Amino acid sequence: MIKIEKLSKRFGKNIITNKLDLEVAEGEFLAVIGQSGVGKSVLLKQIVGLLKPDSGRVRIDGDEVTKLKGDARRKIFKKCGYVFQFAALLDSLTVFENVGIKMFEDGEPEEKVYPMVLEKLKSVGLSEDSMQKYPAELSGGMKKRVGLARTLMLNPKILIYDEPTTGLDPISVKMIHELMAQTHKERKITTLVISHDIDIFNYATQVAMLYKGKIMHKGPTKDIWHCKDPYIHQFIRGLSDGPIVQPSDEKKK
Ligand SMILES: Nc1ncnc2c1ncn2[C@@H]1O[C@H](COP(=O)(O)OP(=O)(O)OP(=O)(O)O)[C@@H](O)[C@H]1O
Ligand SMILES: [Mg+2]
Repeated sequence: MIKIEKLSKRFGKNIITNKLDLEVAEGEFLAVIGQSGVGKSVLLKQIVGLLKPDSGRVRIDGDEVTKLKGDARRKIFKKCGYVFQFAALLDSLTVFENVGIKMFEDGEPEEKVYPMVLEKLKSVGLSEDSMQKYPAELSGGMKKRVGLARTLMLNPKILIYDEPTTGLDPISVKMIHELMAQTHKERKITTLVISHDIDIFNYATQVAMLYKGKIMHKGPTKDIWHCKDPYIHQFIRGLSDGPIVQPSDEKKK
């Protein structure tokens, strides 16, 4: 369970989160939406402690993220996997080395790392052949899979994806979303995703809309289509950028 209370963060005069409150239940799959620059990445980074809020608090399973130090802080970090906006792979390392990086850093021998990396790569739909490749040899979609595999190595309880599908074609978008949904289901990981892609509504169970430093709306994905608020309505229509998907067209849930 993630509980955010009165979270405030500003950069100079620019107020990004303003006494923001948000709760994410265990096992929830939450899509965070909002205009570019509104502060979605800044919000999620504060949740995992990558950015320090000016005031307010974030509690993960009762532990206050902002107050923790040393081992307790590392414990929280281990709980949270953060898949960055850009895959953030190290270009000079192979896929194997990128995915296994944490174990290598911990001094684990290659024969122990190999099967673990292979298992995670398989779970994101990549084969053993990809192990010796360098990031430059991979397509955008494959890089995102490798980034996810690397995060899964940490066995996180909470997974945060920052725009996992940006720059991908619609088929790859769907594949990544399906992979996220499958990971969510199989591992029961509380999942937060920032997305500008309307297709995410076919997978996420809840939607939260960030606007002017606060969560202006949070509720089940299926209800977003009926939301009366004109801003949300317009935003969703803008996202769909074409024929509006009607609730009756939604295939799942
Ligand atoms: N480290 C930083 N220092 C100063 N300003 C920052 C920093 N990080 C973010 N900002 C500012 O905070 C605001 C929110 O940024 P953020 O990256 O969270 O937006 P976003 O909603 O994720 O946008 P996008 O959809 O384009 O990724 C922006 O105005 C950005 O310039
Ligand atoms: Mg962002």
